Amino acid sequence: MKKFICEIPEDKFEIFLVEFNGYGVEVLERDNQNVKFAVYTEKEEEIPFREGLNCIFEDIGEGKIVDEEYVEDRIWEEVWKEDFKPIKVPPFIIIPEWEIYKGDEFIPIKIKVGMSFGTGMHATTQLVLSLLPKYIKEGNTVLDVGCGTGILGIGAFKLGASKVDTVDIDEKAIEECKINAWENEVKVQCKLGSIEQIEGVYDVVLANLQIDIFRKYFKDIVKHFDKYLIISGIFKNEKDELLKLAEENNLKLIEHKSKPESEEKPEDLWHSFVFEK
Ligand SMILES: C[S@@+](CC[C@H](N)C(=O)[O-])C[C@H]1O[C@@H](n2cnc3c(N)ncnc32)[C@H](O)[C@@H]1O
Repeated sequence: MKKFICEIPEDKFEIFLVEFNGYGVEVLERDNQNVKFAVYTEKEEEIPFREGLNCIFEDIGEGKIVDEEYVEDRIWEEVWKEDFKPIKVPPFIIIPEWEIYKGDEFIPIKIKVGMSFGTGMHATTQLVLSLLPKYIKEGNTVLDVGCGTGILGIGAFKLGASKVDTVDIDEKAIEECKINAWENEVKVQCKLGSIEQIEGVYDVVLANLQIDIFRKYFKDIVKHFDKYLIISGIFKNEKDELLKLAEENNLKLIEHKSKPESEEKPEDLWHSFVFEK
């Protein structure tokens, strides 16, 4: 596994986390001025990963890679334990898998943080989690397309869904989704595969993806929901294109919710939509 050590001014760190798309980082040193942190990737991914990091730093206008080294795989699992803090997204609280939530104000979702998207830190995940209580009813069947850690499906099950299926093209995500389902003691089926391979119709379909994936597969996604389709992962003016796709597929918009990328960029909004047929 490849470890990259990076530095960024403290006031830009949150922006980095958002641009890093909710994937995990290990904080090494943090004071009022600077944050030094490590990020990890598989050896085979190191070249595109380095390029991606440099692009983010260039985008933000600050931050850099200061060192790199190869480390053993298992270290990643351990470092998370020191750095994962509970995230409150009412009605849920996202906690690391080794913690026990003793309160009754929130519904806990345990996430064993690995390397998949869906730690609960990203606005796109938080938007869907916050919409779930309104649209998931006791006994509903739910499909999560592009499940990452499985966080949305786990949330749906805890709200009373009777059957939750999830799918992802990433093997690692499916592995992590299965572990997280087990840790949360929920019946969530996690299947490796792409959107075109999905079968069946569900009351509610959740899809936190990206505009290029919606562009390619919108019709395939739409045919699997009966009551509600909850979409997320739409950034800034991609909104118009998504709404056009929905219109072309005769969907009726019933709710639109957005959340800024960060406090520093309140105008950079992530959008979520709920559609009916
Ligand atoms: C933005 S993440 C969402 C993760 C999680 N559902 C959440 O809300 O935090 C999108 C996920 O979609 C998966 N994905 C991308 N293309 C896909 C496809 N064609 N079929 C199924 N999953 C796909 C990615 O591997 C990734 O895990």
